[in-house]
Amino acid sequence: MTYAVTEQCVGCKHTTCVEVCPVDCFHEGSNFLAINPDECIDCGLCEPECPEEAIRSEADLGESELHLIDLNRQLAVAWPKITTSKPALPDAADWKGRPGRLALIIR
Ligand code: SF4
Ligand code: F3S
Repeated sequence: MTYAVTEQCVGCKHTTCVEVCPVDCFHEGSNFLAINPDECIDCGLCEPECPEEAIRSEADLGESELHLIDLNRQLAVAWPKITTSKPALPDAADWKGRPGRLALIIR
């Protein structure tokens, strides 16, 4: 089992999640973070840290959302690790709640 970052992260990227991960499995893109599901130990520590509620357990994903785990894997292996939080993106408040953001991830 793993956790996955979902579209509520896109454009916000608060990065508070990375501070608590005991195995440093977050990776950073320009407007999204991804969890490497092959490194995640399913501890759940990151989930309550995200103010956007963007981090979800695999167990809580619906069938139509399971593709998010593969998306996280693909992006995680392509992006560098991030282990220290930084300021959220400047227009995070404007992105909050906006639908259809997965297509807007900058690869
Ligand atoms: Fe890291 Fe634990 Fe979150 Fe997995 S569930 S990404 S191991 S903090
Ligand atoms: Fe994204 Fe939430 Fe982490 S917005 S960067 S998953 S704290």
